[in-house]
Amino acid sequence: MAEQPQIYPVPEEWKRRARVDAAGFETLYGRSIADPGSFWLEQARRLDWIKRPEIAGDWSFDEADFHINWFTDGKLNVAANCIDRHLASRGAAPAIIWEPDDPDEPARRYAYLELHQEVCRFANVLKAQGVGKGDRVTIYMPMIPEAAFAMLACARIGAIHSVVFGGFSPEALAGRITDCDSAFCITADEGRRGGKRIPLKANVDAAAERAPALEKVIVVQATGGDVEMQDGRDVWYHEVAETVSDDCPAEAMGAEDPLFILYTSGSTGKPKGVLHTSGGYLLWASLTHELAFDYRQDEIFWCAADIGWITGHSYILYGPLANGATTVMYEGVPNWPDASRIWQIVDKHQVNTLYTAPTALRALMAEGDAPVKRTSRASLRLLGTVGEPINPEAWRWYHDVVGDGRCPVIDTWWQTETGGHMIAPLPGAHDLKPGSAVKPMPGVDPQIVDADGNVLTGAAQGNLVIAKSWPGQMRTVWGDHDRFFRTYFAAYPGKYFTSDGCRRDEDGYYWITGRVDDVINVSGHRMGTAEVESALVLHAKVAEAAVVGRPHEVKGQGIYAYVTLNSGVEPSDALRDELCRWVRSEIGPIATPDALQFAPALPKTRSGKIMRRILRKIAEGDMSSLGDTSTLADPGVVDDLVSHRID
Ligand code: WT7
Repeated sequence: MAEQPQIYPVPEEWKRRARVDAAGFETLYGRSIADPGSFWLEQARRLDWIKRPEIAGDWSFDEADFHINWFTDGKLNVAANCIDRHLASRGAAPAIIWEPDDPDEPARRYAYLELHQEVCRFANVLKAQGVGKGDRVTIYMPMIPEAAFAMLACARIGAIHSVVFGGFSPEALAGRITDCDSAFCITADEGRRGGKRIPLKANVDAAAERAPALEKVIVVQATGGDVEMQDGRDVWYHEVAETVSDDCPAEAMGAEDPLFILYTSGSTGKPKGVLHTSGGYLLWASLTHELAFDYRQDEIFWCAADIGWITGHSYILYGPLANGATTVMYEGVPNWPDASRIWQIVDKHQVNTLYTAPTALRALMAEGDAPVKRTSRASLRLLGTVGEPINPEAWRWYHDVVGDGRCPVIDTWWQTETGGHMIAPLPGAHDLKPGSAVKPMPGVDPQIVDADGNVLTGAAQGNLVIAKSWPGQMRTVWGDHDRFFRTYFAAYPGKYFTSDGCRRDEDGYYWITGRVDDVINVSGHRMGTAEVESALVLHAKVAEAAVVGRPHEVKGQGIYAYVTLNSGVEPSDALRDELCRWVRSEIGPIATPDALQFAPALPKTRSGKIMRRILRKIAEGDMSSLGDTSTLADPGVVDDLVSHRID
């Protein structure tokens, strides 16, 4: 029997003041499921429409009639919703507070009026460079305000942004530029993180050699570092900006016009271009930001993610700005110059809500309580977490030490594909249990199914599917609609398959148990094992590779690679380092293997299928449950793997 989890009841003060209390949640959720049509048309009023929609959801997950549309007859502009409509009432209110990497440099603040000017100017620069409605614009930027301006500028003119995380390699960048046939790239001379420089422009130059689609590069001067500019292709942002006006009308977009593409890893080799559209996505980001964080006007909201991930899209940018919030953008890393940095920023900018990942909490927790206790944190009223299941120990540390026991911890389960929170407690409505993401958001209809697709009721464990569409759902995989259907709707016909395992307890609380596919979660970032394997086998000395995840104290999961070398190549420590560096340069630092074991052979079935279950068990050091190895083509390989395993 599992130990009974401790329950953290809704504090009295939260019961009184929260936007949604327990009864309110039941009503809200009940209506969203019973009458989604009128519920969503009413919710749509939270946005500013050029033409208000009269149709809510129009969708079918069935193969014969597969389609997903929301508010199809509506017209709006996402950037105008995030900026223009706040100008009359909140023009002077801060929209973005930017905190630089180096704490000795000044922070920057942009009021909504200033944000408006910056975004209009950026939009005119894009137009001057030939960017038009529907064009794909790759954004490969550090965490500087110009990254936000660039995204909103695309939204303003109806271009589709594809943000590529600044930690990805030129190789990975080139693949993403090519996949969506993006002729434009916005970058900066260099990025800065933890006192180090990242040569972003040089990376774009390298990517351009393998991405013939790329025609124009707009370079923002961030550090003043030396870069090479290619005539005819590269322009300095600040030079073009001088030549354009800061008046730019917002394009009227259909609710289903694409807003952005964001690449994410799946269980096959190639990252998928997840496509989100305008109306439904923005509504979802805005509604979930308000409900899960109980957002109130004039609060300071800090999502400590990178804009290169969906968390940054939805909760640094679109959700908070759609709600007229003040959003904090931080250039640096949590533990530089020291382990107190996050809490100092909280005090400096009087942050009310902090949203971060369990991996960051575990890393900071390892530094002890002192770096936290040195700061006040009195401004905090709510703490959020995202990215992976949070272990109860980290949850309690977040609650007791960081929040001094005052702040609800909101564990939000969602995915790049879902656009925003899917399962999360509402702070005024739900008692909390450390490690549980609690209950579905309005309109979300989660089910737990067994391997045959039978729906399990009551307390149960199995695979998590979503039975109904919701406005923030992705609409397709860029360029491969068939792959979209196959990946998410084929396993359990008529339902969206999340690829996560899940348990529901006797109180109807949801506990995500982790991915059930070949995706591992490293520091809250998704990494397809196949992606790392493809990078490894590209190396001239590698014959075959198999990659699995194994528990890692700080990262959640670490990457464990088994590599078979070409015949005649001798294993060595130098070669191990070389292969790790190789993966790093092919994909990026986040894909660097934590352990790399040379394997004379991999365990395979007689039909040649690699038995990953065995590889996972060996990596975990769980040799007692290797199971039946007699079906292997050569059971002997297991002994060699066990004796050379890396701790
Ligand atoms: C996968 C999605 C959603 C933004 C960040 C990651 C895991 C995410 C939680 C959570 C347990 C979680 C799931 C999911 N995940 N949040 N609160 N509890 N697991 O987005 O890169 O698309 O990854 O992250 O496994 O499928 P992503």
